[in-house]
Amino acid sequence: LVSEPLKVMISGAPASGKGTQCELIVQKFGLVHISTGDLLRAEVSSGTEIGNKAKEFMNAGRLVPDEIVTAMVTARLSREDAVERGWLLDGYPRSFAQAQSLEKLKIRPDIYIVLDVPDEILINRCIGRRLDPVTRKIYHIKNFPPETEEIKARLVIRPDDTEEKVKSRLEIYKQNSEAISSTYLKIMTKIDGNRPKEEIFKEIESFLLQVQKDTEKMEKSG
Ligand code: AP5
Repeated sequence: LVSEPLKVMISGAPASGKGTQCELIVQKFGLVHISTGDLLRAEVSSGTEIGNKAKEFMNAGRLVPDEIVTAMVTARLSREDAVERGWLLDGYPRSFAQAQSLEKLKIRPDIYIVLDVPDEILINRCIGRRLDPVTRKIYHIKNFPPETEEIKARLVIRPDDTEEKVKSRLEIYKQNSEAISSTYLKIMTKIDGNRPKEEIFKEIESFLLQVQKDTEKMEKSG
């Protein structure tokens, strides 16, 4: 019996651990990870038209205009790998209008995961975050230091990870989160994200396994 590919949305404030959990989810479930932040950063670093438009918004810690992001996400979601293997959407929707754009296209997740982390911890996580431009792995100077000196030497800091910009990102998240949740209330699952990452992943894993089982049952009966 082959179950339908999983469709997962993960949400949460800046630095709530979305990217970190997505690495673990992809390893276990093989879903296609679609992170709007990563897609936009890739556009910026290759200097594309989208990247040039997005850059000033991102660096200021503000949202990139909906039409740019929505076109990028819907194109990515409809590619064959995402349709066949299932998807893990990270960082989208970020406004009520974005959620409605997906609803209009009848693109709906099986589960909407929200990582819940207190504000003071989020700021600390952003300020200590480092990225490996080679492997794309996420580190933290205290919580998850790099494994070798070689990796340490090449780590980069995101331009939007200053205290001031993190506060602005957090504010924007708070302004939008309720309206987005209202679209997904029935499938929303809040998870305490202020724990060791393995513990958080175990909880996410058990929810995803349950969703997989439920979709199998529906296929059997239907
Ligand atoms: P995006 O890249 O999505 O940024 P974000 O939502 O602010 O989320 P982050 O990437 O900051 O955090 P995360 O939750 O992934 O945490 P991470 O795992 O790295 O978006 C960036 C920008 O792009 C936006 O501001 C906007 O301009 C634009 N954009 C993106 N999507 C858009 C959209 N849909 N519409 C419009 N504009 C859009 O973890 C953070 C740190 O904490 C790391 O150092 C990590 O090692 C550490 N950590 C993780 N888990 C734990 C743990 N359990 N315990 C201790 N430390 C931990």
